[in-house]
This record gives sequence, structure tokens and C-alpha cells, in this order.
Amino acid sequence: MPLSGRSTLTQFLIEERRRFPDASGDFNALLLDVALCCKAIARAVAFGELGGAMGNHAPESGGSVNVQGETQKKLDVLSNDIFIRRTEWAGHLAGMASEEMDVPYQIPAQLPRGKYLLVFDPLDGSSNIDVNVTVGSIFSILRGPDTGRDVTEADFLQPGTRQVAAGYALYGPTTMLVLTVGTGVHGFTLDPNLGEFMLTHPGIQVPAETQEFAINASNSRFWEAPVKRYVDECLAGKTGPRGKDFNMRWIASMVAEAHRILMRGGVFMYPRDTKDPSKPGRLRLLYEANPIGMIMEQAGGRASTGRTAVLGVQPTALHQRIGLVFGSRNEVERIERYHAEPEAVAQHNPLFTERSLFRD
Ligand code: AHG
Ligand code: MN
Ligand code: MN
Repeated sequence: MPLSGRSTLTQFLIEERRRFPDASGDFNALLLDVALCCKAIARAVAFGELGGAMGNHAPESGGSVNVQGETQKKLDVLSNDIFIRRTEWAGHLAGMASEEMDVPYQIPAQLPRGKYLLVFDPLDGSSNIDVNVTVGSIFSILRGPDTGRDVTEADFLQPGTRQVAAGYALYGPTTMLVLTVGTGVHGFTLDPNLGEFMLTHPGIQVPAETQEFAINASNSRFWEAPVKRYVDECLAGKTGPRGKDFNMRWIASMVAEAHRILMRGGVFMYPRDTKDPSKPGRLRLLYEANPIGMIMEQAGGRASTGRTAVLGVQPTALHQRIGLVFGSRNEVERIERYHAEPEAVAQHNPLFTERSLFRD
């Protein structure tokens, strides 16, 4: 343990940078600041009830609600503040955006401004906080204006293919940081003795085949036909069209589901459904779907809306929601195929079969 031979995150980033002799070092410094945010949030989360940061934010005034209409937890707000405070000072950022802020965050006038945009979900799965289940932080780095001007919402509306880095931290039995800078996906485990992220999972690859899926089945009555078909076929098991039994998981922390899928394969679905026509999906494109999408694609998996690659979607709003399916490539492609095959859907839907209402 004292001399494990593993690289630290700092060493890993410096070695990556050597391949770009002109790089200024800003990018690495920003990533190290983000890693520090994650370490600080990991500590806040780990203290639980003892830290006095459990429960809802501002309960004395009836609780606070974010732009998504969700009740904010104290730890949502604290984690958001940690991200801002630990990254705004250094001169690497042109601006930031987060789940917990209605509009983009401007780097204060007295601080230097840089060329990157940081977009984040400070605490994903925060409904799990009070029951001591794994949560995490998700982040995406984009290029922004480098003129020092204020940022606008339009600056952030870039498709996921334009991300220069993406990652997440997981606050579970161990704290991990999983990162891509466009050269594969690498996992680091926090060594609590050193306070350093150590490279423990280089070159992570999502297994292409799987027998595990994750979806919130309480929404099944709202699912579209291709999703219903896919899940029905999984549930039919060995004697069904897939010819094998499937297992199901639902943690309700997307970041934890993404990590499980990176480690052992699987498919995650929070598809577009008919529950609330004003919401085209549950998860947010810029700080949930895109960073997890880049990680999946960089690990040989796939991320899709069900119909098209998530990373190719042109965002139209900062807090835009989207249907999301990601994980083992073969399964995601199968789900996309089901969306593209109207005849197969019709066959599967009893309303369209032989003696149905919709056949003449
Ligand atoms: P957040 O805590 O950042 O608002 O995100 C929660 C998300 C995601 O992590 C999870 O997959 C999903 O919400 C769970 O939704 P359900 O409660 O509908 O299962
Ligand atoms: Mn989230
Ligand atoms: Mn969140």
C-alpha cells in the first residue's frame, strides 16, 4: 500500500497532456479543481446526519424548489456551492451552469475568466441521500467564449459531441472518479489515507452483451410501444424471443446505474413516455445525458434517445429533458431498431394484431 505503483489523477493528467505539447495546463488544472469538489462533496455526504446537512433546504421557509420544480435537499445546494467556490477563482472558466441554478453562473467581475464552460449535476440521485444509498456528481466540460464577456444560455447549447471532457464521481462504499478526456474512460478510487484519486480502472470497456436491464417499471403504463416490447421480451426470459433470462435493477441514482453498467454491462432506460406531455423524458440533456453519453461511447457502449445518438442532439434549452437509453451497445442498438420498425411494433401491440380495432 505505501508504494502501490498506481498513478495518481495528477500524474495521469500530466502524462495525457504530454501528448499535446501546446496545451496551457488550464484544462488539467480545471479537472483537478473538479476532482477537489468531488472530494469535498464526498466528505459532506459521508458525515450524514452528523454533518447537519440532511433533509430539505430552507425548511423554515417551506423548502426551496429548483428550476425543474424539484425540492432541493440541503446537500444539493451545498454541493452546488462547492462546485462554484472551488472552480470559479482560477481563471479557467468562462461560466458555469447546473441543475440547481436557473440561469448560467457568471464568474464574478473581480476574478479572471477563462475559455471553458463547466456544466454539472452537483448531486445526482439526491432523493437517495436520506436513505444512505449511493449518490454522485456529474460534470461536462465544453469550450466557451474566450473574450471575458458574460456567458449566455446559447453558449451552453452545444451537442454532446463537442464535450472536451466528461465524468462523474460516485459516493458509495468507496468514492470513485470516472473520467474521459476523449481517450477512453478511466476510473480512479479515492485513497482516503492520501486524499488522492488513484488510477484503479484504466481503459474501462462496457461489455457488449448483457442480461441485465434497469428501468422504473412503475411508469410502464406510460411507455411507448418499442420500450414495452423490449421489456416484455426481457421478462419473457429463456422461453421468450430473447432465449435467455434477464435480471432487473433500479437504484434511482442514474450515476450509480451508469457505474454498474460500466463495470459489468447492462442497459439503462429512462425513455420518453406519455406521463407528462410537457416533459420529453425525465433526465436532463446537458448535465446528465451528455456526460454519461460521452462516457458510454468512449467505453465502447452506446447512448441514445431511443431513436438517435444522444451526443448528436442539438440542445435548445439549458434544462432540456430528453429520453435516455444507454449501456451495452447491442442492447441499445436493439432498442433503437424497435423504435425504427413500425411493423414489428404493430405486431407486438394487440391493438394492431389480426382481429384488432386498427386493421381492416
Ligand atoms: P437528481 O437527483 O439529480 O434530480 O436526479 C435523479 C434522477 C436520476 O438519478 C434517476 O435515475 C432518476 O432521477 C430517478 O427517477 P425516478 O424517481 O422516477 O425513479
Ligand atoms: Mn440528476
Ligand atoms: Mn441533482
